[in-house]
Amino acid sequence: MKKNNKTPGKSHPPRRSQLSYGKSDKDGFIHRSWMKAQGYPDHIFDGRPIIGICNTWSEITPCNSGLREIAEYVKRGVWEAGGVPLEFPVTSLGETQMRPTAMLFRNLLAMDVEESIRGNPIDGVVLLGGCDKTTPGQLMGAASVNLPSIVVSSGPMLNGKFRGRDIGSGTDVWKFSEAVRAGEMSQDDFIAAESGMSRSRGVCMTMGTASTVSNLVEAMGLCLPYNSSIPAVDARRQAMAHMSGREIVRLVQDDVRIKDIVTRNALINAIKVNAAVGGSTNAVMHLLALAGRLQIDLQLEDFDRYSRDLPLLVDLMPSGRFLMEDYHYAGGLPAVMKKIGSHLDLSAVTVSGHTLGEQIEEAECYNNTVIRNLDNPVTENSGIWVLRGNLCPRGAIIKPNAASPALLKHTGRAVVFESIEDYHTRKDRPELEIDEHSIMVLKGCGPKGYPGMPEVGNMALPKKLLEKGVKDMLRISDARMSGTAFGSVILHVAPEASAGGPLAVVQTGDLIEFDGEARSLNLKISDEELQNRLRRWNSHRPAPTYKRGYAKLYIDTVLQADQGADLDFLVGASGDEVSRESH
Ligand code: FES
Ligand code: MG
Repeated sequence: MKKNNKTPGKSHPPRRSQLSYGKSDKDGFIHRSWMKAQGYPDHIFDGRPIIGICNTWSEITPCNSGLREIAEYVKRGVWEAGGVPLEFPVTSLGETQMRPTAMLFRNLLAMDVEESIRGNPIDGVVLLGGCDKTTPGQLMGAASVNLPSIVVSSGPMLNGKFRGRDIGSGTDVWKFSEAVRAGEMSQDDFIAAESGMSRSRGVCMTMGTASTVSNLVEAMGLCLPYNSSIPAVDARRQAMAHMSGREIVRLVQDDVRIKDIVTRNALINAIKVNAAVGGSTNAVMHLLALAGRLQIDLQLEDFDRYSRDLPLLVDLMPSGRFLMEDYHYAGGLPAVMKKIGSHLDLSAVTVSGHTLGEQIEEAECYNNTVIRNLDNPVTENSGIWVLRGNLCPRGAIIKPNAASPALLKHTGRAVVFESIEDYHTRKDRPELEIDEHSIMVLKGCGPKGYPGMPEVGNMALPKKLLEKGVKDMLRISDARMSGTAFGSVILHVAPEASAGGPLAVVQTGDLIEFDGEARSLNLKISDEELQNRLRRWNSHRPAPTYKRGYAKLYIDTVLQADQGADLDFLVGASGDEVSRESH
């Protein structure tokens, strides 16, 4: 295959790094001399590409704890190709460690990444991320600068193992914790499962948000093939990191930038791949936010429209049975994309220098049970359904393959929780009036309300229903849910309750009608009653909970879920312009 993604007719301006290192005056002295403190000889500054390695390594983001070592392999490749690698740290976001939710800080990371890239004398960037919010934050920030960029991910953990069977990150936590509450698992066994679940470095090895996002990055052509699936501790990931270091130097030489790769068609390819792999609902938030940075017109409805014809092919938890190691050994994303090739734009340009079509030409599937054929899918329904109605004027979503088919059309009585604390206090009270036909409604968990839109939409069922053997109920909220979670869960209701959306005025006892086929979600009260309730709510609007700091900035400026929950002033791009001198 011949590499030919040099943009024809594009003029190539002087390298950004030379605007600092190529100067013979006092400013050039300052830029070079202090770098020489690290032992760099003169020829480092002779105009060769300077490659930033943007690292979210952190011991408190365990999923990214292997990235310090991965950076060393990227550097080998950069040196080999004649570039100069310079690693720098950015904010890291550990999904399982940060409160109130790592999502609150995704946009902060994006700002950090954007300004770190733009402010420094670098020509191209390698983004080292993995855990849920780290890759999206890096992509958003890098997109607003638009230098040549390539992603190298942490890679998934080894399959979880517990007492003779495979267990999946997150997915089995929800299952085990419900089993404990239903009296089917002991507390000691529950704790014993912890070390079996997370037994190597890497990201969650279910098709959670991290693996979803890395699959979408691979579908968009922003990384080398198999980046999403090679296990974190497999030596082939180190080799791929090395190769990515070589490729970024070529991308700088050919001036191939993020905007040349992430086009609207690449985003649509990603939406289709999300359906075929059974990806997380969080894909919606992150792709919308990325499109906003690139000023590509992507609408919430596009997720429904473009995933409608695609079945679920990948039998991975939470929608199916297997885990990321199985996925990689079965052929990974190239095998999936080959099977759905007729649905994809195969002319899309990728960072490998080959088109998507060329890249998957030789892909093979080695296990048709893990990666099914189109005529034998895991489920016919996949992707994301986008709902509208008087309860969600700006949309809501559901992942149909995570839901119970019987609940995809359901009318029931609302049982309302005003906040997550209200839910925790009352959910197990014997006097709570609730049965399996009820619809659990949770408020106050949107972007502004929590703040940060946490992954609490998959509320655990009340204990008395679990004890009766109830496994699923319809749940509605303005929250997100973990990519590892499952259930009949309607999420991302917009506008959120705390912004005065109709969700704010749902009362226990109201009837709610959900019709998945019709994509509708309605509160069965009259328009007049709805308007009266909203008027009353507005006259008693609750005061915001944060008065200073980043959280205040976030609450004041965050967009709703249907726009990807970016901060309003971060939408769009400022480019890679080198600003005035520092001294
Ligand atoms: Fe980090 Fe799942 S918690 S990838
Ligand atoms: Mg998550």
